[in-house]
Amino acid sequence: MKEDRPLKHIVIFASGAGTNAEKIITHFRDSRMAKVSLIVCNNPEAGVIAVASRHGIPVDLIDRNRLIDPSGLANTLLRIPADLIVLAGFLWKVPDHLVRLFQGKILNIHPALLPKYGGIGMFGSRVHEAVVRAGEKLTGITVHLVNEQYDEGPSLLQRTVAVDPDDSPKSLALKVQKLEHEWYPRVIEQFLKNNP
Ligand code: GAR
Repeated sequence: MKEDRPLKHIVIFASGAGTNAEKIITHFRDSRMAKVSLIVCNNPEAGVIAVASRHGIPVDLIDRNRLIDPSGLANTLLRIPADLIVLAGFLWKVPDHLVRLFQGKILNIHPALLPKYGGIGMFGSRVHEAVVRAGEKLTGITVHLVNEQYDEGPSLLQRTVAVDPDDSPKSLALKVQKLEHEWYPRVIEQFLKNNP
C-alpha cells in the first residue's frame, strides 16, 4: 500500500484583494499534497483577510519590523514549517534573510511579461497603464522564483494575452487576472511535484 506523505504547508503573502490567494486556497482544499496553512498580510484593510476568514485560514498581520526581524516572522514560518512561500500580490520586498532561509522555495506572480514592466513600484494597475501607454501588442503573466533582486528571479512560466487597440488598463487587468487565476495554482502544484 502506498504511504501517504504529510501535507506540505503553503504560506501565502498578500497585500490586496486576495483573488489569487482564494484560487490557490480552493485549488488545494481537497489536495493530498499540500494545503494553505497561513496568510501573511501587511495591510489591515486588505480584502485577503476576509478571504482567509471565509476559508478558516489564520492570518498573520505583520508590520515592517516583524518582516525584517530575523527572529520575527521567520520563526513562525520555521515553526509551521512552511514548505513553500507564495507571493500573491505582496507589495513589500521580501527581506534577504527570508530569501536565504527559503532559498528556491518562494514563488511570485507578476502581471506582465518580465523583465518588462517589473521592479519596485510596478504593481497592479500601474503595470497595465504602462503596457497600454507603450502600445504593446502582447502582455501576460510571469511566475518566477524570488531571489534578492526584486522581480528578477528565474522564470517558471509565462503566458501571454493580446493587447487589443481598444483595451484600457482596466480591461487589460481583467484579461491578465483570468490568466493568473487559471495558471498560478497549476504552477504551484507542478512546482511541488517537481520538488518533493
Ligand atoms: C495580481 O494581479 C498580482 O499579479 C499583482 O497584484 C495582484 C494581486 O491581486 N502583483 C504584483 O503586481 C506584484 N508586483 P489579488 O490580490 O486579487 O490576488
